[in-house]
Amino acid sequence: MQDSSGSLQLESCEFYHSMDLPGHGEVEGQWDLRRGVVDYLGNVDLAGKRVLDVGTSSGFLCFQMERMGASVVAFDLSPEQDWDFIPYGGAANPDRRAAMKAHIERIRRGWELAHASFGSRARLVRGSVYDLPVDEIGEVDVALFGSILLHLRDPFLALQRAGRIATESVIVTDVMPPAQRPTGGLVLRLLMRFCHRITVRNAPTMTFIPDPPRATNDLT
Ligand SMILES: C[S@@+](CC[C@H](N)C(=O)[O-])C[C@H]1O[C@@H](n2cnc3c(N)ncnc32)[C@H](O)[C@@H]1O
Repeated sequence: MQDSSGSLQLESCEFYHSMDLPGHGEVEGQWDLRRGVVDYLGNVDLAGKRVLDVGTSSGFLCFQMERMGASVVAFDLSPEQDWDFIPYGGAANPDRRAAMKAHIERIRRGWELAHASFGSRARLVRGSVYDLPVDEIGEVDVALFGSILLHLRDPFLALQRAGRIATESVIVTDVMPPAQRPTGGLVLRLLMRFCHRITVRNAPTMTFIPDPPRATNDLT
């Protein structure tokens, strides 16, 4: 996992986001936020701000915010902790948990490698947002929740914890449940799209979507 100089090897890492890493080139992640990142960060001016990046994953946003002039504390789960899983029971979950922990570790190595490669000064603190170590982190100007609230059983508690130390803004960026893809003839499709626009305004922004037949905890 590390070469003779103690540096992490790319193959032992996993990246959640695609990134251009100095000294390594482009690494491919599950998501590529490079094009719309300023929008993703709510168009907030982060220059000179102290920012908490909740759920930093492999850190693309953390390193991007540093480039925008912020000083960042990155935060993510430690290996002892689990994501919030829907408890389907059966034999699948222990396996899934172990796989998830291994995945979190590879992602953490990705964060460390990117940190070294960017020459970042960000600090990584690990734990659950439900027990955010507010004394250790201290006050921040801005807390960022990028695509994490949708994974949490208690998004409000998470916001409350970070809200205790964020003195200026809390940025929340999340995906909305996908609009139903209309099928049928053109007129029907246009009608359905129109109806969707009206109904989505009043639709809940979070929906509990267990899928017992597949016993899955992801959206795909
Ligand atoms: C979907 S990724 C989002 C990555 C990035 N923030 C973004 O916007 O693309 C969610 C991250 O939240 C972390 N996470 C999940 N539950 C958490 C918890 N209870 N406390 C802290 N981090 C958590 C996961 O480990 C993962 O890195």
